[in-house]
Amino acid sequence: VIEAIALDGPAASGKTTVARRVAQTLGFAVIDTGAMYRAVALAALERALALDDGGALTALAESEGPRYRFLPDGEGEQGYRLRVGDRDVTDLLYTERVSVAVPRVAAVSGVRAVLAREQRRIGLEGRVVMTGRDIGTVVLPEAALKVFMTASAEERARRRVAQLDDGAEQFPAVLANIRERDRMDSERADSPLVAAADAVALDTTALSLEQVVARVLELFSRRVASTP
Ligand code: CDP
Repeated sequence: VIEAIALDGPAASGKTTVARRVAQTLGFAVIDTGAMYRAVALAALERALALDDGGALTALAESEGPRYRFLPDGEGEQGYRLRVGDRDVTDLLYTERVSVAVPRVAAVSGVRAVLAREQRRIGLEGRVVMTGRDIGTVVLPEAALKVFMTASAEERARRRVAQLDDGAEQFPAVLANIRERDRMDSERADSPLVAAADAVALDTTALSLEQVVARVLELFSRRVASTP
């Protein structure tokens, strides 16, 4: 058992915000694996790679993946910065272009193998909250606590839009992107979005952020207390 929390769930289910608060309380690091998939998608777009060229995308992940570094960032929206070598790409990861490209990049087995290996190496060091789709099932099944967070697609779109300046008018596009990523993430052959058998399911549709954070902390302290 590793002293870590695996926080999985669909797009915009609130994993990043919850992870950030939980990690602050416990003094753990946050590793947002979605940001790594987004960084590969960004690099692919910048190089104008075809998004159905699995070989080229895998080669790209192999050269970039080992250069990713998460730095804590108390002030920022995400709670961390992601660097590729010396370049800070954090603010480029959440554009619509990247959000549309990322599920296609994440469906490539070679890309997943490279990133999962990096993620597992970090996770095995412990004292981390890791967010993603396959942390409890593939990347770090030894995590002391696994949580599968869900919320309705409309509620997730509403929350995501609330973070944007011109949010209201973007609601239809954001909802459509969330639905499309739900579909692609759930239907892909390699590491689909699915709860680990021993994950605690947490439907956050009717819960506040504070309630979710409190629940995760309570579950974790109980797990830690009951493991030898
Ligand atoms: O934050 P949000 O819920 O919008 O998504 P994200 O966590 O940034 O992940 C972006 C995309 O990366 C997802 O839609 C998945 O296609 C992919 N992903 C994945 O396949 N496996 C992970 N462990 C994390 C993300």
